[in-house]
Amino acid sequence: MKIIIVKDSQQGGKAAFNIFAAALKKGARVFGLATGSTPLTTYQELVNSDLDFAQAISINLDEYVGLKADDPRSYHAYMQKKLFNFKKFKHSFLPQGDAADEQVEIERYNQVLTAHPIDLQLLGIGQNGHIGFNEPGSSFAEKTRKVALTNSTIEANSRFFENAAEVPRFAYSMGIGSILQAKQILLEAFGTNKAVAVAKMIQGPVTTACPASALQEHPNVTVILDQAAAVNLKN
Ligand code: GLP
Repeated sequence: MKIIIVKDSQQGGKAAFNIFAAALKKGARVFGLATGSTPLTTYQELVNSDLDFAQAISINLDEYVGLKADDPRSYHAYMQKKLFNFKKFKHSFLPQGDAADEQVEIERYNQVLTAHPIDLQLLGIGQNGHIGFNEPGSSFAEKTRKVALTNSTIEANSRFFENAAEVPRFAYSMGIGSILQAKQILLEAFGTNKAVAVAKMIQGPVTTACPASALQEHPNVTVILDQAAAVNLKN
């Protein structure tokens, strides 16, 4: 793992932008994208740039089960608002939260991933070490599936909803196995509330108790941290 420590999330966004720009220049055409607060500075840098994604495909990690694409709390809506309204991709894939048949939707998404192997996958990390919505205990071999959110994730994500009771209990998520298929992975973490998970991810044992520790086994991972998120790292 390559670790880059920056002053704050603004600098983190610039460092991540450089990795996107270099990948695009080298021919990357399939970008795995993430939601949450963490990638916002990266998306802002992409929006403000002249990088051209018109020939590129984006594939998002996850979506809440039950939310329609036009629900303002959906990850579809987040991506539109933060990136796609400003940067056009040739095609953007997300799981469809309100799909009529869950198994068909899961199969569809796995076929999307098979047809479009990801060149660069952007990730955040949950306070409990989750990546995508792969909560502790998730197998490292899993592909896309429906996952139950833990109480700590529901609580952490309730800030985007009226209250915790409104947060969907399930999500579709690319599995850790799908994530590890990406040729290159870029994980960002900012703030002290990520420091424990970050130390476990980088310096802890590789264990399903910390889903992000699976990244230790991938050959091309860059981690961008601000100083607060890096505070528990030894050396
Ligand atoms: C969410 C998302 C993840 C994200 C993580 C951290 O639940 N499913 O993809 O990386 O939690 O979110 P944030 O960046 O808002 O801290």
